[in-house]
Amino acid sequence: MGELMNAVKWQNAQKLEEILPEVWKELRVKVDRMIEQIGDKSPHVAKEDGVYDDMRVDWWTSGFWPGILWIMHEMTGKEHYKEAAWEWDGKFEQKSIIDNNFHHDVGFQYLPTAVIKHKLTGDKDGLRRGLQAANFLAGRFNIAGNFIRAWNQEKLGWSIVDSTMNLSILFWAAEMTGDPRFEHIGRAQADTVVQKFIREDGSVNHILSFDPKTGELIESLGGQGAGPQSAWSRGAAWALHGLVNVYRFTEDTQYLKAAQRVANYFLACLPEDYVAHWDFRADASLDNEPRDTSAASCAASGLIDLAAFLPPIEGAMYLRAAERMLLSLTVNYGTWDKPENQAILLEGTGNKPANSNVNVSLIYGDYYYVEALAKLQGWKQRIF
Ligand code: GLY
Repeated sequence: MGELMNAVKWQNAQKLEEILPEVWKELRVKVDRMIEQIGDKSPHVAKEDGVYDDMRVDWWTSGFWPGILWIMHEMTGKEHYKEAAWEWDGKFEQKSIIDNNFHHDVGFQYLPTAVIKHKLTGDKDGLRRGLQAANFLAGRFNIAGNFIRAWNQEKLGWSIVDSTMNLSILFWAAEMTGDPRFEHIGRAQADTVVQKFIREDGSVNHILSFDPKTGELIESLGGQGAGPQSAWSRGAAWALHGLVNVYRFTEDTQYLKAAQRVANYFLACLPEDYVAHWDFRADASLDNEPRDTSAASCAASGLIDLAAFLPPIEGAMYLRAAERMLLSLTVNYGTWDKPENQAILLEGTGNKPANSNVNVSLIYGDYYYVEALAKLQGWKQRIF
């Protein structure tokens, strides 16, 4: 069946489960083609021409393409995915011994490369590199303020909600080494997210600025959201998925409850097609605001695990919502009828306030879409 026919056929689907096996088949074809198209590039953004750029390997997004390949390898048993993914953690290690800009996002980079490589193959280089990244992340902890320092160049006291997704590497390192310090730091940052980043109504701050000496909270900053009090949707997705991950490691229900609060706000803000705008408070109507398909795919993937950890009667709503979001992403935002397009999803928003990468394809949007569909297809492994 041709891709265009599939896309047209999928337009009439009422439920994701009706088309999921067919979409998954099409996705494999797509990823095989991406291997040829992407080659050695480190993809980050594809604009109107559908051609992925080649970002520097220390950029925070460089783990997502190999992450897609490792998922495909585990789901299919096919060696060519593993071969295409194999070198990535070695590239990071090379970069880490020379001038670089690695920061708190080593979780985003090493979890879908070194750590999953070690889990799936027992590779000792992957283990060493993953533990080095965990040590590096732990070393960014500010004990006075109970937060992990985010970036390098900006203020010493900045912590950002995106960090929630990086915590899995600390919990993994605690398990691998038996050293509980990693878990202490992971929990401390997660506690800061629960107590300070998530607002009463379940919306989420992007950046909090602390006094790096005293640890006192100074202010909320708009960051990639529309303003300090706005509700950046990808930030909410990072908190939602990230706190579900923390629950998976700790089994401490406060993290699951917090993820649920973020999920409830996120779902209440969705437009008719179930794909989030870039900021739920960008303006009152949101009519002319762009979508962010990466927020949608990341949130959907987190919702699938949230649903599974809750009692079935409570979790069912979150699973239904995730399936609706993924159906809409598939039918309305996919590139199935554009074989020359190197991405999977359209209409991501990178950084709207900076007018950077608006209405583009984003490799992390593609990654979380693949991750979510793999979960629905029975994938039991977890990368984050
Ligand atoms: N972690 C950066 C972003 O979500 O754009």
